[in-house]
Amino acid sequence: MYKARIIGTGSSAPSKVLTNKDLENMVDTSDEWIVTRTGIKQRHIAENGEPTSKFAYQASVKALEMAGVSPDQLDMIIVGSVTPDMATPSVGCIVQHQLKATQAAAFDISAGCTGFIYALSIANSYIKSGMCQKILVIGAETLSKITDYQDRTTCIIFADGAGAAVLSKEEGDRGILSTHLYSDGAYGKLLYMPGGGSALPATYKTIDDREHYLKMDGNKVFKIAIKSLEEAALTALSHNNITEGTVDLLIPHQANSRIIDAIAKRLKLPPEKVFSNIDTYGNTSAASVPIALDEANRQKKLKENHLILLDAFGAGFTWGSALLRW
Ligand code: COA
Repeated sequence: MYKARIIGTGSSAPSKVLTNKDLENMVDTSDEWIVTRTGIKQRHIAENGEPTSKFAYQASVKALEMAGVSPDQLDMIIVGSVTPDMATPSVGCIVQHQLKATQAAAFDISAGCTGFIYALSIANSYIKSGMCQKILVIGAETLSKITDYQDRTTCIIFADGAGAAVLSKEEGDRGILSTHLYSDGAYGKLLYMPGGGSALPATYKTIDDREHYLKMDGNKVFKIAIKSLEEAALTALSHNNITEGTVDLLIPHQANSRIIDAIAKRLKLPPEKVFSNIDTYGNTSAASVPIALDEANRQKKLKENHLILLDAFGAGFTWGSALLRW
């Protein structure tokens, strides 16, 4: 028997930090409001000239190093991102070239903040089918490039960074136990960027109208996020005949500390069984779960045979979960 197992993780974030105090000077907000309503104290923001691939590459190098895998052993690179360097080539191909992963197929998938779990699920299927042995899965974003720093409802939340995991075909029963993916495009316009695609290509007017920035109805997103995260998490548990209390660590999408607390409560998990780093990273979309996974891993919070539950929700809407035996 074999499974797809994560054998190395890595993460990276821009060195520039944007604090709540900094935001107080940019929009009508306060440190107190942001901390109370979101749990975020600071976030990392890319400088001009720092594209998503920079952080994806740095996270990948660390993950490969931990895994003891050389780039030419990779069969595939999958990147979850809604902020690629450009429409084409993909971040996957840029990173493939930088790593010199000469044997790897490479591509991006767009699944909002659920991007990493979608990518992990695809990688798991390729390994379980026997078609691939080693796959690099990345979640990478520079949301600051599509965030409107005149809009206080979004600019306090979104941030930049990348996380990566090396997935390997391994003997035994440790590895990915299941993944569950969902979508509902009916909610697309509750969190979207109107301009810059084929529907509304860039013109002077779209720029003047600030169409190249994320628009969000935060309150509606908030409520649906809790319901969806709960659905994905509970399905993962029931599919594996596991009760809530058996989970050793929940690593949820870092969207809002109140959302994380609500999910933990619904899953009856005490705070020590829930990983959160939203205070220092903010919401890095597809990068949020793999950055948290890497931090938990490097802090030695993931022990052999631990049951780790990944749970995410994002634009699309998309949502999903992955249950791992570490
Ligand atoms: N600073 C100060 N006040 C703010 C503010 C800010 N940055 N942003 C909004 N407000 C105000 C609103 O204008 C509103 O004022 P009003 O009552 O006078 O109209 C009030 O605060 C409450 O706004 P509301 O939108 O109801 O707040 P909220 O409790 O829902 O928190 C979010 C807003 C965005 C933090 C929250 O809705 C959220 O986190 N949503 C989910 C976002 C998310 O996860 N997105 C990504 C999905 S992957």
